[in-house]
Amino acid sequence: MKSTITDHEKKLAAYESVSLVKNGMVVGLGSGSTAVHMIRKLGAEVAQGLSVRGVPSSEKTAQLAHGAGIPLIRLEEAVTLDINIDGADEFDPKFRLIKGGGGALLREKILAHNSNLNVIIADSGKKVSALGKFKLPLEIIPFATQTILAEFNKMGLKPVLRKLSKKTYRTDENNYIIDIDILGIKDVAKLNSNLIETPGVVETGLFLKSTDIIIMGKGDETIFLKNNRQKERSSK
Ligand code: A5P
Repeated sequence: MKSTITDHEKKLAAYESVSLVKNGMVVGLGSGSTAVHMIRKLGAEVAQGLSVRGVPSSEKTAQLAHGAGIPLIRLEEAVTLDINIDGADEFDPKFRLIKGGGGALLREKILAHNSNLNVIIADSGKKVSALGKFKLPLEIIPFATQTILAEFNKMGLKPVLRKLSKKTYRTDENNYIIDIDILGIKDVAKLNSNLIETPGVVETGLFLKSTDIIIMGKGDETIFLKNNRQKERSSK
């Protein structure tokens, strides 16, 4: 039952986000189950005559969007996105996110950083008072796996190398993902800098300053949250 309600909330948020997409826009297409609803709805709008071009954040999303009839371009052709719509694993009251549960955090962060309007779509279960119940994904270079695991173990971050069907999970960029435990760490900005400074860490799933709008499905409603802070494009 719970999963049905969650999916209903995801769908509501996703559908509302599509109403922000206007004719001629270049749209960043997120990854994950909430983004799937958004892509299907956007595809339906394209079939009705809406003209957009999409930049996918993962190979999976590219396939889905192609199947849904959304014309796709590469990021280098677009340079800047008019809007980027993506899901999240957690968000806090300061519009900070954990992302990467689906393993696409690196490309997702690149799209978020290069878009004029960043919209996060989520079910109500994603709202938290403090980030960290969800394990934080980090994309790492395979060469550095053992040194990173040892270092983060010492730091008490309980790193776990992500597996899929008993094999080490590979990202679209052919890297690995480790999931770490950040529950209880208050200064996530400092944590993020420390993680990023570790050689071999390519990117973290902490999205701290990129979100403009969160659309959250709750029951049969959507809640529209607008971030009024000045966005700092230079920081992640
Ligand atoms: C993919 O790498 C993630 O960042 C997703 O956006 C995130 O995990 C949310 O996924 P769901 O929409 O499936 O909950």
